[in-house]
Amino acid sequence: MGKAVTRRKTDVLIIGSGVAGLTLAIKLAKKRPHLKITIVTKNNIDDSNTKFAQGGIATVWDLDKDNFEKHIADTMDAGDELNDLEIVQMVIKEGPKRVKELIEWGARFDKKDNGKLELGKEGGHSENRVLHYKDITGWEVERTLIEMVKSLKNIEVLENFFALELITQHHLGRIISKVTPDIKAFGVYVLNKNSLGIETILSKTTVVATGGAGQLYTITTNPEGSTGDGIAMVYRAKGRIANMEFVQFHPTALYTKIEESPNFLVSEAVRGHGGILRTEDGEDFMLRYDKRGSLAPRDIVARAIDNEMKIRGVNNVFLDVKHIEKEDFIKHFPNIYKKCIREGVDPMKDMIPVAPACHYFCGGIVIDSKGKTSIKNLYAAGEATYSGLHGANRLASNSLLEGLVFAEKICKSISSEIDSIDINEDIPNWNITSTSDPKEMVLITQSLKEIRDVMGSYVGIVRNNIRLKRAINRILLYYKETEELYKSSVISEQLCELRNLNTIAYLVTRSSLNRHESRGLNYNTDYPEKLPYNEITLI
Ligand code: SIN
Repeated sequence: MGKAVTRRKTDVLIIGSGVAGLTLAIKLAKKRPHLKITIVTKNNIDDSNTKFAQGGIATVWDLDKDNFEKHIADTMDAGDELNDLEIVQMVIKEGPKRVKELIEWGARFDKKDNGKLELGKEGGHSENRVLHYKDITGWEVERTLIEMVKSLKNIEVLENFFALELITQHHLGRIISKVTPDIKAFGVYVLNKNSLGIETILSKTTVVATGGAGQLYTITTNPEGSTGDGIAMVYRAKGRIANMEFVQFHPTALYTKIEESPNFLVSEAVRGHGGILRTEDGEDFMLRYDKRGSLAPRDIVARAIDNEMKIRGVNNVFLDVKHIEKEDFIKHFPNIYKKCIREGVDPMKDMIPVAPACHYFCGGIVIDSKGKTSIKNLYAAGEATYSGLHGANRLASNSLLEGLVFAEKICKSISSEIDSIDINEDIPNWNITSTSDPKEMVLITQSLKEIRDVMGSYVGIVRNNIRLKRAINRILLYYKETEELYKSSVISEQLCELRNLNTIAYLVTRSSLNRHESRGLNYNTDYPEKLPYNEITLI
């Protein structure tokens, strides 16, 4: 039963415990040991999308073969030129420094026999530049960062704390709209899942690093917690959100007869290591779509697979790795190998059944080059953001890199500004208006199922206007029902996640309706052409 009891105060409040949030906490804690830094995370500290990243971190490392210009060009090309060139340059040029720092903190990456780092390749990369640790790079990054966080005394981690609402002047009774110029963040209201009380956390500066919203689709590589909480929260607080139509589907999630959630990812690094996508009869079909074949950027590969599946009326295509030496495959992809064997597929004898799955949100909370949002004293980083790096389609393995670089930028900006910010003590506690438990859990679970069905059927890899309009009508109906439920029920995690996913469904569909062109991940058969100008969709 929700009770507003506790008020906490902190200098810097970081919401989320993936690569961006943890890296920022570490940097700030070291740079400013007298600041109190609080991380809130809605499950355990290691429950984040970062842990699920298999492939690696892309950065220019082998200067004999690679250079910044090539990585920049690949990023822009994958992003269908909708990227912000200055941001792309900044992130890519700073990448190697940030990755070296991570190595100094203890992160392990695979090495060759000569002791040099082994650089992998993935779709859309013209050179080998992906640093990796077996097929669990994200897990290794997360492990390193958590160990570091635990060793720093001025970081407090609050696990099982679900951020509900950003606190702004709205909570002091002021009317705020999207055009209000000076919206300020004073902290957040959080659901303490341990006590079930709703707490007020006041901060001088708040950072949203809550990740994406892959759970908007039934088939997704993202863990249960990826429900777009931060994006939805900032949208409700009237912050700027952009480019939500660009939802990336990873081409190769393992296709299993018995549905599982999340769907197991078969890393793009497998294709970088020689794996070839084939139809059941063995055709290397990707060559009909792009001269780069199986290593074309993700939007192109996922769309080609979707097309082949529809033409043939099948649920999957195949990834062929039979020609790769067994020992070599197991050395590089031990977990993928084990998982396939558990599913009754021997990758050395059988082709691996794969299908696209929702994987990454390229849009989100608009940030500038310092990680600042449109709301004062509010920063954001990682998948929850639109920074301009990814454009209309993220280049493989650029996401961990983005988190590392923006953590550094935000650390610098917060350090220089925080001493002039005061905590606002006038903020009231959460106003409890509803006390009744939701009578029927099925109201929540069924709405979520329906939203996911709508998104999968009408706002998937290939879109058109009739489908999008149908989707928006239904989403608005769910929105009305969910708001009614929210106002009349005790706050619960499930209800809040439903509300957030409903908001994300609206943002994705509305943004897609607003974009009258096919570009990157937004493929609309009513607008097959790309428009000659470059703009972002703001909501
Ligand atoms: C993968 O390993 O294929 C995923 C890496 C990424 O999302 O960039």
